[in-house]
Amino acid sequence: MAIFNIFSSLVFLLFSCIAIAVPPKFFNVVRYGAISDGTTDNSQAFLKAWKDACAYNGRSRFWIPNGKFLLRKASFEGSCNGSMAFLIKGTLVAPTDSFFTDTWIAFRYVSGLIVKGGGTLDGQGQSAWHYNDCKTNSKCKPLPVTLRFDFVRNSKVENIESINSKSSHFNIFACENMSISHVKLSAPADSPNTDGIHIGTSRNIKISKSVIGTGDDCVSMVSGSQSIEVNGVACGPGHGISIGSLGRGHEHEYVKGITVRNCTFIGSDNGVRIKTWSPSSYSLASGLVFENIIMKNTKNPVVIDQYYCPSPHCYLQGHSSSAVQIQDVTFKNIFGVSSTEVAVNLQCSKAMPCKNVKLINIDLAYDGPGRRATSLCSNVIGSSSGKLVPGGCI
Ligand SMILES: *[C@@H]1O[C@H](CO)[C@@H](O)[C@H](O)[C@H]1NC(C)=O
Ligand SMILES: *[C@@H]1O[C@H](CO)[C@@H](O)[C@H](O)[C@H]1NC(C)=O
Ligand SMILES: *[C@@H]1O[C@H](CO)[C@@H](O)[C@H](O)[C@H]1NC(C)=O
Repeated sequence: MAIFNIFSSLVFLLFSCIAIAVPPKFFNVVRYGAISDGTTDNSQAFLKAWKDACAYNGRSRFWIPNGKFLLRKASFEGSCNGSMAFLIKGTLVAPTDSFFTDTWIAFRYVSGLIVKGGGTLDGQGQSAWHYNDCKTNSKCKPLPVTLRFDFVRNSKVENIESINSKSSHFNIFACENMSISHVKLSAPADSPNTDGIHIGTSRNIKISKSVIGTGDDCVSMVSGSQSIEVNGVACGPGHGISIGSLGRGHEHEYVKGITVRNCTFIGSDNGVRIKTWSPSSYSLASGLVFENIIMKNTKNPVVIDQYYCPSPHCYLQGHSSSAVQIQDVTFKNIFGVSSTEVAVNLQCSKAMPCKNVKLINIDLAYDGPGRRATSLCSNVIGSSSGKLVPGGCI
């Protein structure tokens, strides 16, 4: 019996090896009529290649060779019959006209996807940023996110670059178990709303070993972000790594279990930040850890802002308190230099003070007269330990 078991295990092993040894099938976009002259629209060729790759009952390799491929707009949808690798060797170029829509390239309803290859996504944002008047116009036209992942699971994005996105570089919505590593995202410091990676309604997302310099948040995590790990990200220029804005409108899903670790902020407007709208609807953000963080000339290194209200209309409603409860927050091992005097600024809601906030080993200098940084805190309940410069907060 035992021998039979061993024998059947061996047979099983053998068959598994054979299954793994079946080579992947390549779906080269050029074979589908794509032309890398940078001006011909390749959307139809790409979608045809995707359709075949997605239907293939094995390991598919969607292959974009070297060259410049203009792509007007494309949504790559599953579910697919086998695992999908989307390999970008060349550069995908976005259009510089007729782009008022919210998406450039999307992956939707795909599981087991890998996007990689060392190539570049060029959003051509220079042609679009001046249309962004969202600060003053609540009905501003949408500009496309470079890469959207909607309902994507068990997937990876690695080793690709995104430049000059018209809006966010990556948007992650309703996704589960994704890892993003070794990506480089860049746009000028003054480009509007060019978030690096924006996450909402998603869980088990890991972002690591990446370099993000852009005009808005390097990473932003909003309503429904749960079990998110950001590790080893260099951020700057940009508005920092942010949780929020939370509590706006009907987004009530809780935020919980977010760790930001081993990150460096270089000349960014903020470092680590939690922000909620005021006024706001009820929500909860808990289990938030920021640790092993280096600040290099960061304007506002450590921030909780429960009075966030950037657009003019909210002043009309008055500054009533935010109803977002922030609790179980740890700021630990945060070192470096602030470019403004207030290095730690925790402004919690009067109606819902922050609970169980821990400050552990903070050492921030001010790069200005006296070199002494200060802290400003209100409505914060918690504890502190280790070295605390600036102190006096909790
Ligand atoms: C998946 O494979 C089956 C056959 O195994 C086929 O009938 C079906 O059309 C394939 N799916 C897609 C999306 O083509
Ligand atoms: C998460 O996704 C990876 C592929 O990126 C996969 O190998 C792993 O099994 C998935 N984990 C779970 C719990 O599904
Ligand atoms: C974070 O950095 C520390 C010190 O550089 C290192 O020991 C640790 O392994 C890193 N953690 C992760 C999760 O990479």
